[in-house]
Amino acid sequence: MRVLITGAGGQLGHDLVDAFGGDQVTALDRSQLDVTEEAAVVAAVRDHAPDLVVHAAAFTKVDACESEPDTAWRVNALGSWWVARACALGDAAMVYLSSDYVFDGRAGRAYTEYDATSPLSIYGRSKEAGEQLVRRTLPRHYIVRTSWVHGAHGGNFVRTMLRLGRERGAVSVVDDQTGSPTFTFDLAPAIRRLAVTARHGTYHLTNGGHCTWFDLAQAAFEEAGVQVDLTATDTASFGAPAPRPAYSVLDNLTARLTGLPPLPPWRASLRRLIAELGAASPANA
Ligand SMILES: NC(=O)c1ccc[n+]([C@@H]2O[C@H](COP(=O)([O-])OP(=O)(O)OC[C@H]3O[C@@H](n4cnc5c(N)ncnc54)[C@H](OP(=O)(O)O)[C@@H]3O)[C@@H](O)[C@H]2O)c1
Repeated sequence: MRVLITGAGGQLGHDLVDAFGGDQVTALDRSQLDVTEEAAVVAAVRDHAPDLVVHAAAFTKVDACESEPDTAWRVNALGSWWVARACALGDAAMVYLSSDYVFDGRAGRAYTEYDATSPLSIYGRSKEAGEQLVRRTLPRHYIVRTSWVHGAHGGNFVRTMLRLGRERGAVSVVDDQTGSPTFTFDLAPAIRRLAVTARHGTYHLTNGGHCTWFDLAQAAFEEAGVQVDLTATDTASFGAPAPRPAYSVLDNLTARLTGLPPLPPWRASLRRLIAELGAASPANA
């Protein structure tokens, strides 16, 4: 299979290159393909003639999306539309990565693929718009919603916590947002397994179980053996610019019903991430 990966310099993009290692992969980071450049996207798909495009590029800084909304819409909505249009022209299938933040979190239970979306933030709205544009443009799509993404390559909550914990010895973390931490070394192979089914549609793919950000920070400090004075705070006191859902756990319903293997429990994969970070460089971990 010939595969083209956008956003290959990101957390997920990096591990997608490994997961599709048995395929003929073209991995393009932002410097090689800016997905907001329509002509460049069309040319990349035409020149590499992939069977599948895995579109992992996105503007993922949730708070920055509030202050830079045009960038959020340009990258997450329009950029995804350009990729879908190029796939339609080139007869390629496409994986579009989406987010738990397309939901408002008010259901108080895990969301299935059949629940209505209702994003709270510009980031969530722009990712939802990307979904809609991809669905309308290209029948052969896999829309993969995931959450709280962590990989060994790139910035994420766990790496930030470990750094702050070591630097300051005291950290305060919100305890009233619940979700499913998901790890790129599990998600990337799951995307490959999905992408060879030819069962196009919308899927939730996350690691098993759920927790709050506070729980995740606590578990990370335990696994890394870092002594930290950790205190719980709430969303209102923390005061982040972007509103976030209180409960955005994703039920992996369609994957389960169609027989795709579940991703491991989040805690086991957190352990693996911390081991990998430590092995890469103690300063990073
Ligand atoms: N991170 C999460 O917690 C999370 C949660 C749910 C869903 N997702 C979705 O999962 C996917 C992968 O996320 P991730 O965590 O791997 O994100 P990431 O590490 O931020 O990677 C995204 C990559 O896209 C690149 N990019 C930004 N604008 C671009 C443009 N105009 N053209 C080409 N590339 C561009 C970024 O480059 P620069 O670094 O140079 O900007 C970055 O390398 C995204 O679709 C994201 O929305 C992420």
